Amino acid sequence: MTTLTGTSVTSDPTYRVFQAIAGKYDRTNCLVSLGMHKKWQRKLVRKIRNIPHEYILDVACGTGALTEQLACLEGVHVTGIDPNDAMLAVAKKRHLKTKSRQGQRPECQAPLYKKGYAEDLPLEEESFQVVTVAYGLRNMADRSRALQQMYRVLKREGRLYVLEFSMQPEDAQKKRGRLFWLGVKGYIRYVLPLVGWLGTGERAAYDYLRDSVETFPHPRQIRDEMKEAGFNDVTYTRFFPGVAVLYTGVK
Ligand SMILES: C[S@@+](CC[C@H](N)C(=O)[O-])C[C@H]1O[C@@H](n2cnc3c(N)ncnc32)[C@H](O)[C@@H]1O
Repeated sequence: MTTLTGTSVTSDPTYRVFQAIAGKYDRTNCLVSLGMHKKWQRKLVRKIRNIPHEYILDVACGTGALTEQLACLEGVHVTGIDPNDAMLAVAKKRHLKTKSRQGQRPECQAPLYKKGYAEDLPLEEESFQVVTVAYGLRNMADRSRALQQMYRVLKREGRLYVLEFSMQPEDAQKKRGRLFWLGVKGYIRYVLPLVGWLGTGERAAYDYLRDSVETFPHPRQIRDEMKEAGFNDVTYTRFFPGVAVLYTGVK
């Protein structure tokens, strides 16, 4: 339970949250994001298809929604890592279900699922060409340490992709889309916790998820943190309608 930096189940406030909602996480996610989160994940997978991607690590893989899609890219070896036992258990079951549905798709590999924190990745250095994190960075207690670890396990020229929500518009968006961003804020503040609560019966968990989205810094700050961790060519783009941001950086 204790690790080098002290990141452990006992010091992780998100552990109980995800442990409580794991079984209903996927369904409730579809409800609260109106299915958009899957669309954004597919866009990310399409980007990875065009770069060297034999060894991929999906950090904060949760129930394996993105991990399974990555594992269907041709010739890949995918590792998914997450500290949460219940989320990982769903991920492993998901693979069995996907496998039975995909009898005709031999290109889909079985991901290797591991338990671990991003801040202490129990993995060899320079062992992946691509590292992904979808909707996970905002949960990490020590973001800077986590980014350094992702840098460490990437091969040279390897690429990090971080998909995350943002409630912080660009200056130009603030002026043009004031009403839209007010709507987004209202949705995250009031609708997300309500739908999450109704979907899972877990009110505190969705209050936490609301707070984690609301307090996540502006993409400019995340871009700077990625640069500080050592990444080059760090950029970010927003996916329609602007509340999902994809960050990339190269080792
Ligand atoms: C919102 S879920 C995202 C899951 C998945 N990537 C997806 O796209 O559905 C966030 C995940 O981050 C994991 N997590 C929380 N703290 C973490 C940490 N320090 N390192 C790695 N993963 C962490 C949680 O256990 C949870 O499974």
